[in-house]
Amino acid sequence: MGQGCGFYISSATPETEARMALQFAKVGSGDVFYDLGSGDGVFVIAAANLHAKATGIEIKPSSLDQSKVNAKGTTAKFILGDIFIIPYADATIVEINLGCGPDNYKAISRTCRIAPKARILTPIDADLPDAHIITRSPAGNGSRGWSIYKCGH
Ligand SMILES: C[S@@+](CC[C@H](N)C(=O)[O-])C[C@H]1O[C@@H](n2cnc3c(N)ncnc32)[C@H](O)[C@@H]1O
Repeated sequence: MGQGCGFYISSATPETEARMALQFAKVGSGDVFYDLGSGDGVFVIAAANLHAKATGIEIKPSSLDQSKVNAKGTTAKFILGDIFIIPYADATIVEINLGCGPDNYKAISRTCRIAPKARILTPIDADLPDAHIITRSPAGNGSRGWSIYKCGH
């Protein structure tokens, strides 16, 4: 399996790809969705439009401000802060796409500690100690493949 790294896998997600990934994960009105590192808010807005309770957590103030502008008129919410400090124990699904390096794996580990029943939507495709892949969408048509992990093995 791939390392889940490199420019393509670590970049922010276009809106059509975010919508496709959320539909693949069957996100809907029963879900409490968090984007851990929400960037310009594309996933959070798309999840809110699918009637999930949707929140983005973002550490960069300028990105958070932009996401609030982008989300005007939707129910999407945003929190300025560090995903390794802010609680999200009520999550039923989280999206994790934190670029290259260990933060993706750390965020998956934290999710499995504080929201162990949540499904995890991520472009990462790797064997992990805390979680296993239950399904993965194929890459193609300009979209990465997306994995859904569940905690435990
Ligand atoms: C590659 S972008 C992904 C944006 C969006 N989630 C997506 O998938 O398109 C990663 C974002 O995570 C944010 N980020 C990185 N570390 C963070 C942390 N510890 N807490 C909150 N946000 C973080 C960055 O500022 C950036 O906006």
